[in-house]
Amino acid sequence: MIYLKTDEEVELMRESNILLGKTYAELAKVIRPGITTAQLDKMAYEFIMDNGGEPACLNFDGYPATLCTSVNEVVVHGIPSEKQVLQDGDVISVDSCIRLNGFISDSAYTFPVGDVKPEILQLLKTTKECLYLGIEQAVTGHRLGDIGATIQNHAEKNGYSVVREFVGHGIGRDMHEDPEVCNYGRRGNGIVLKSGMTLAIEPMICLGRRNVIIEDDGWTARTVDRKPAAHYEHSVCVRNGKADILSTFDFIQEVLGDRFI
Ligand code: MF3
Ligand code: CO
Repeated sequence: MIYLKTDEEVELMRESNILLGKTYAELAKVIRPGITTAQLDKMAYEFIMDNGGEPACLNFDGYPATLCTSVNEVVVHGIPSEKQVLQDGDVISVDSCIRLNGFISDSAYTFPVGDVKPEILQLLKTTKECLYLGIEQAVTGHRLGDIGATIQNHAEKNGYSVVREFVGHGIGRDMHEDPEVCNYGRRGNGIVLKSGMTLAIEPMICLGRRNVIIEDDGWTARTVDRKPAAHYEHSVCVRNGKADILSTFDFIQEVLGDRFI
């Protein structure tokens, strides 16, 4: 069942997503070699609570933290740890959700840590391009498959691969609503998009092969070839002509300045 949102509901979702964007900006201030992923998690938890939100990943299906912090070859759902110290040259994908106003926000961002190899920075750039190209397809009258096909085409054209095990999703009062939003597919396939649909679009793109394994903790998803992956995500509302992007990287950009890619 797909829930179309009213304009009022979309504005409540935007507020939730703006808080998430600001939370990521707090992290952008401190992401550098030497910080632990547990420190980032604690900062995010406190910032969200101080601003009237509720960390929506915490305890979701038993997930034990506010953030997913996925470093290098971890694609998604890396669990923050005191033992995990970020190193120069790492990349960290931060993914989280907040409940505010009764609505869930969802967005993800892959940050470079210190000096990152050009080859890996290029993966980040292309994954972000995949996200925005996918979003351009999220307009009334297009089909779901147009989003996936566009993302897959851009990733593969650049020599990368698209993860199959995890997908985007509808979002609203629940973190995961219908429909599933695949990052692969065929143009012209799938349901027709309607104004008021709210979708989390989230390409997960690998430098090497697309295969992932889930570790014994039940969450951490790592590439089998241990090559790095990137993950960018926005929550968007389907509109006539142009998708309305509800989440934002603007606050991250303000902090990173010319380090923003
Ligand atoms: N934000 C993720 C998503 O895009 C969900 C994180 S999984 C959780 O669906 F269990 F940690 F919440
Ligand atoms: Co999501």
